[in-house]
Amino acid sequence: MNANDVVIRGGIVVTEAETRLADVGIRNGKVAALGIGLSGATTIDATGKLVLPGGVDSHVHIDQLSSFAIPCADDFYSGTKSAAFGGTTTILPFCAQHREDALPKVLADYFGKAKNAIVDYGFHLIIANPNEQTLASDLPAAIGQGVRSFKIFMTYDRMRLTDEQILDVMSVARRDGALVMVHAENHGIISWLAGKMVKQGNVAPRYHAICHTRSSEAEAINRIITLAEVIDCPILIVHVSTPEGIETIRKAQARGLKVFAETCPQYLFLTARDIDRPGVLGAAFCCSPPPRDEAAQEACWQGLKDGTLTVYSSDHAPYKMDASGKLPNGDKTTFKEMANGVPGIELRLPLFFTFGYKAGRITLNEFVALTSTRHAQTYGLYPQKGTIALGSDADIAIWDPEKRVTITKDLVHDNTGYTPYEGRELTGWPVTVLSRGEIIVQDGKLTAERGRGRFLPRERSAPLEPLGRQIPEMAQLSAWNTPLKS
Ligand code: URP
Ligand code: ZN
Ligand code: ZN
Repeated sequence: MNANDVVIRGGIVVTEAETRLADVGIRNGKVAALGIGLSGATTIDATGKLVLPGGVDSHVHIDQLSSFAIPCADDFYSGTKSAAFGGTTTILPFCAQHREDALPKVLADYFGKAKNAIVDYGFHLIIANPNEQTLASDLPAAIGQGVRSFKIFMTYDRMRLTDEQILDVMSVARRDGALVMVHAENHGIISWLAGKMVKQGNVAPRYHAICHTRSSEAEAINRIITLAEVIDCPILIVHVSTPEGIETIRKAQARGLKVFAETCPQYLFLTARDIDRPGVLGAAFCCSPPPRDEAAQEACWQGLKDGTLTVYSSDHAPYKMDASGKLPNGDKTTFKEMANGVPGIELRLPLFFTFGYKAGRITLNEFVALTSTRHAQTYGLYPQKGTIALGSDADIAIWDPEKRVTITKDLVHDNTGYTPYEGRELTGWPVTVLSRGEIIVQDGKLTAERGRGRFLPRERSAPLEPLGRQIPEMAQLSAWNTPLKS
């Protein structure tokens, strides 16, 4: 009798900590053995290949209404299929509360939608209305269900919270061991500039990048760190795009604060010039914050390399280039009306492999850490996800490091209908992908059943614990463990 159900034989196994020639034995969906000469009922020959943990993408928007109430192009089937083809085996999408929504209904809706997923998933919440009911009952109940992270917005008319509301949300997160993720841009700067631009007739996509100034990101990052420090609450700043923002985070981390941060492919591989195209074509590249310039790209690479930026996620926000998404008013659509966001769930890893690892900017171990391990650690999924170790889920991407691929819109499997990375030449591709020991993609074919993905409840974990610093002002408050009243 075979000890293993599946053996991946002869590949180079890479984790965040080591690189070694080893077979991987899989039993009951878990990694059961690592060694040489393993046997199993099924053997996958990985000679000449790299055997990496499947990607964990901790920032994706799927089957969600945007901040302007525009629907995403992907549902959980198309989104997770696209993830799988790109070597990602775990995703953390958002259950988005809009101001009029009650959280329990929001959660129930997304649990229903996610029944179509083919890879495993956890959830974050988006909190747009932290009223008494949300703070006192609904948020703690969601955390109890294992939804242990919330995104809050400092901009967008329909989503943004006041500083007082932010402190309210932080106080619940701090008490109950959840992570506050922050979209940090100064609302006043952006909306004041945008109002003036539109009045002047400056409505082309390029003005989106101009209005979302670098200073607006830096100001908001500084403010959110200040708020988090007042209340001793760990935070994660999503989609960081500027050298100024990264430097502010670096300084806070140097002071010992628990400030985690993320960047995304659009800040490494696009610039504001991509948005500056004739007519409304630049809408395909509009996201918030916008891509900047080469110096900002360099700062993002440096931030990933030195650990200031904790994770590299896609911020997959798929909208078609038609009236259903980016262009509600056709070629008359102004930059204020077009859906913000770009697709990236499938190409996140291949782009990073070619232009990060192959280009010599990062090592393979750093590739694994930034695309998988750190996501799992930060969001309470480690070591079930994010590594190849005894007892971990056998979520594995087998990469052909020499496979050459030219990106086209027909290559990718999401529903967006375009890719911002059209025409780029890649070297290295995940040719076989396993989720819990089951082959879900092989040689360009999907072999997974719709709905096989499982929900991942998340436990309280060390990165989410407050520092426990004494804060003199807070010592004056008796109700430290209950939401603060503004
Ligand atoms: O432009 C973006 N990033 N759209 C997606 C929503 C968000 O703010 O993350
Ligand atoms: Zn955001
Ligand atoms: Zn996002």
